Amino acid sequence: MSAADKSVLPDSPHHSILIFGASGDLTSRKLMPALFTLWSEGFLLDDTPIFGVARREKTDDEFRHEMQAAVSRHGRLGEIPDDQWQKFAARLFYHRLDLDTPDGYVGLHSRVEETEAQLFGPDVAASRVVYLAITPSLFLPSVENLCAGGFKPAHDETHRLRVVVEKPFGRDLSSSLELSSGLNRLLDESQIYRIDHYLGKETVQNILLFRFGNAIFEPLLNRNHVDHIQITMSEDQGIESGRGGYYDTSGALRDVLQNHVLQLLCLVAMEPPAVFLGDQIRDEKVKVLESLRPGSDNIDEWAIGGQYVGGTVDGKAVNGYRQEDRVAPNSRRETFVGMEVFVDNWRWAHVPFYLRTGKRLPARVTEIAIQFKLPPLHPFSTVECDGDDCGLVGSRPNSLVFRIQPEESITLSCSVKKPGHQYNLERQRLQYQYPHGLAEAYERLLLDVLRGDSTLFTRSDELEAAWRFVQPVLDHWETEKFQPEFYQVDTWGPQAAITLLGNSGREWREP
Ligand SMILES: NC(=O)c1ccc[n+]([C@@H]2O[C@H](COP(=O)([O-])OP(=O)(O)OC[C@H]3O[C@@H](n4cnc5c(N)ncnc54)[C@H](OP(=O)(O)O)[C@@H]3O)[C@@H](O)[C@H]2O)c1
Repeated sequence: MSAADKSVLPDSPHHSILIFGASGDLTSRKLMPALFTLWSEGFLLDDTPIFGVARREKTDDEFRHEMQAAVSRHGRLGEIPDDQWQKFAARLFYHRLDLDTPDGYVGLHSRVEETEAQLFGPDVAASRVVYLAITPSLFLPSVENLCAGGFKPAHDETHRLRVVVEKPFGRDLSSSLELSSGLNRLLDESQIYRIDHYLGKETVQNILLFRFGNAIFEPLLNRNHVDHIQITMSEDQGIESGRGGYYDTSGALRDVLQNHVLQLLCLVAMEPPAVFLGDQIRDEKVKVLESLRPGSDNIDEWAIGGQYVGGTVDGKAVNGYRQEDRVAPNSRRETFVGMEVFVDNWRWAHVPFYLRTGKRLPARVTEIAIQFKLPPLHPFSTVECDGDDCGLVGSRPNSLVFRIQPEESITLSCSVKKPGHQYNLERQRLQYQYPHGLAEAYERLLLDVLRGDSTLFTRSDELEAAWRFVQPVLDHWETEKFQPEFYQVDTWGPQAAITLLGNSGREWREP
């Protein structure tokens, strides 16, 4: 373990990490590479045991070999020297367990306790972090069985069991409430870490620091100066192989907009908390979600659902959504959502927020674009003219763009005088680009769980408010009245989404 900044080390040195679903995709691609990097950079002690748990038969050695291949392939540190891997792998264990069967948990608990006693000594009470990298139907049974199987700590030691829950947190308001109340019956809210990996990204965390740590932007971020805000989370790919079955029961609204996009909206719209601590920040986010208001009374006017049809991308034929593997041939599932919403509070009254997410769009981009009002430019038209546009050539409003994907950057676009003998404007950009090789979101989030810091995790009331807002759209889209509007692959979605802004003379950015 190398030296690390003490201020960001875990809250207690002694942890055990249990990954439920250790033979799955998430463990190989994200969790184990993140744990390895944390250890390599000194944020995880040498003696922290990591238990992989799943149903299939496997020895510790087989598990270690599989994880070595996974970390070499997906980790960001490149080739791992064998001696370094051996050192890390010495604390990797595999435990076979059907998470549905309560009896097996006692054996798991004994193994964890014995291992901890060997590693930490007999009197150390370690904290256990249990990562649920499993199908959502197993979330509640697993937590119930964990608690009954000996893992539930005394009520004054709740920090000794932390459970990380992967999305989806329900598929609508009622299932989400059911899941939350089930978890809250067994665990204190402070023990539940609902992960949204977007919140682990540098730029996303920087939104709050950038807004409230600079004197020059925050005074402008309100209805007096901002014309509108666009949040885009677009993918250029269609349905990944094997995911059609899941996606066809989910769709873009549940899969991305309800969680990631609304979380970004909260960060750009929220008020500064009294202190930058988890609960205070989340209190402010809840207020934003509770202030959300649809763009009009008619759902079809403010919430646009679209579905891609086949075509060609870069000269290659690509399937439409209905032709994708495991998608119903007459599916009405939306692969695109565009929305106009308002944050009905003093700061943001009448400022539209335009949200969009979709598959098979022209680029893979996540960004928040704050579009300022256009200042009066008529004074410039006193210079020599050539037609009506004299002096206004190139005039565009300022924008401040937080780019979260693929590269991470912040860009302020300004108008400057174009060199020459006329007052023509041109657009120039002031940009801060984050360096390459930033920590993976999962590294930061896992470290936060170890530190007991839940700032970047979604609290149950945030979740409820987000579901409450989208539920009328989900309900409407389940009825036969709704047909998603088709859009061609490699375009920015259906015509209705363009009209959503066009009606007020605005247009979507083409990132
Ligand atoms: N993959 C991603 O990038 C990603 C991203 C965001 C969210 N998620 C979420 O993360 C969770 C896991 O996703 P995944 O892609 O890793 O799924 P996956 O590849 O299907 O893996 C599921 C894991 O659960 C284990 N499992 C299933 N039933 C079990 C049981 N009864 N007892 C014990 N283990 C059981 C499986 O192992 P055995 O078959 O050996 O039991 C496997 O290890 C899901 O909730 C998913 O929505 C995944």
